[in-house]
Amino acid sequence: MTKDKVLIFDTTLRDGEQSPGATMSHAEKLEIAELLDDMGVDIIEAGFPIASEGDFNAVSEISKRAKSSTICGLARANYKDIDRCWEAVKHASSPRIHTFIGTSPLHRAIPNLDMDEMAERIHDTVTHARNLCDNVQWSPMDATRTEWDYLCRVVEIAIKAGATTINIPDTVGYTAPEESADLIRKLIATVPGADDVIFATHCHNDLGMATANSLAAVIGGARQIECTINGLGERAGNTALEEVVMALKIRGDIMPYETGIDTRKIMNISRRVATVSGFAVQFNKAIVGKNAFAHESGIHQDGMLKNAETFEIMRPEDVGLSGTSLPLGKHSGRAALRAKLSALGFDLADNQLNDVFVRFKDLADRKKEVFDDDLMALVYQNDSGEDRIKLTSLRVVCGTDGPQQADMVLNIDGADVKTTATGDGPVDATFNAVKALFPHAARLQLYQVQAVTEGTDAQATVLVRMEEEGRIATGQSADTDTVVASAKAYINAINRLLVRREKSAPGHDTKGVSYKDS
Ligand code: KIV
Ligand code: ZN
Repeated sequence: MTKDKVLIFDTTLRDGEQSPGATMSHAEKLEIAELLDDMGVDIIEAGFPIASEGDFNAVSEISKRAKSSTICGLARANYKDIDRCWEAVKHASSPRIHTFIGTSPLHRAIPNLDMDEMAERIHDTVTHARNLCDNVQWSPMDATRTEWDYLCRVVEIAIKAGATTINIPDTVGYTAPEESADLIRKLIATVPGADDVIFATHCHNDLGMATANSLAAVIGGARQIECTINGLGERAGNTALEEVVMALKIRGDIMPYETGIDTRKIMNISRRVATVSGFAVQFNKAIVGKNAFAHESGIHQDGMLKNAETFEIMRPEDVGLSGTSLPLGKHSGRAALRAKLSALGFDLADNQLNDVFVRFKDLADRKKEVFDDDLMALVYQNDSGEDRIKLTSLRVVCGTDGPQQADMVLNIDGADVKTTATGDGPVDATFNAVKALFPHAARLQLYQVQAVTEGTDAQATVLVRMEEEGRIATGQSADTDTVVASAKAYINAINRLLVRREKSAPGHDTKGVSYKDS
């Protein structure tokens, strides 16, 4: 590797998935890993194998399937974690073990280790990991609040014990750009053996400086950036992959470092992660927000028509947005749909295309023009054939004179059941109808509606997050009828909770638990 290449380490499936509510299913994790691999991510942190059976299986399967990326798993500083991590990643053609321990005074107090005891633990665990795997990453968690002398001491120990990458996390998003650059620069200059390893930067966004801090660390000598798609992550999230990659691409004049990322794949993976994690991308988010390439004011529009460079520093095509958005209509055929989806980055198998085509025809009957965003919403619609609960029909009465009423038929475990419920508004009535037909204790945590495109016939994407005994599931659906989309999203979330419940209680029959015949 040349010194000017910066490795991209994506931790969407580990640090990103740790955000409350962002839990992804096994199939979704495999799909995201494949997209990351395809776009050229150097290292994928696929999960925390000791954390659960599900995490272990996902990391193992991703390791087996990976084409070019190195597959990494996370492990705390103990042999059991490290062994379990190795069991999962060993199937990869390029595996990595990532082991960490909190080294700042606040974090040392938790396992109640003094400085010497912790130093010994680091030596032993990194040595153990290195005996299993040639590629070992070590992280002093909360490095930016660790005493300088102690940080140098433990980094040296980890290097001597065989770590090949030293990651310096700003775990609580506390540092600032100049300090971030200085820290890496000084570590490389001070710690014996530093030239033989790669230094990595891992920044959280609590003060909104994660991307700036990561880039500054690269200027200071880091050659691996840890990041997530859309900046997904706990609290304010992590450095966003798309931001650092595009910043390095566009400002090569002042940051002459290359990544191997195919930036045209950014938009697709961003949308996919938003869908499966349930974390919608804010409209004004850099690179991937809905407004990132939108121009509203007359002056800007006038400039754009004369020369796009007046108000855009990158071309939409560079990040995978098709430059033109010619809508499809109800007369468009299967071939046009396939061509359009392929231009948007979706190469669907014939049976998947057939499903999308049916949904497309249904939508085109109700909507004059079907735009790129509509099509993506159709592709992402997850009507899993295995769902226990399906919406058969819904009729809602709403208006100024309440109470609003929902007449609903659900298909539950193969049998149609119906009810009429009222509520404070059509959505409340609809959710009450679901609860009457399928009683459950899950609580609604989030209900969010967003228009996919413009116009009164636009599809609405609805996101619903539910919580039951600490398990969180997100459901999503799109429809030109907001109440139908709401019902489907709510049912989708319940179906996911049922799967999650089954997984966390092996052998447990969910049918007896919450479905009471009504
Ligand atoms: O933020 C952090 O410190 C982490 C470590 C596990 C690397 O995510
Ligand atoms: Zn982190």
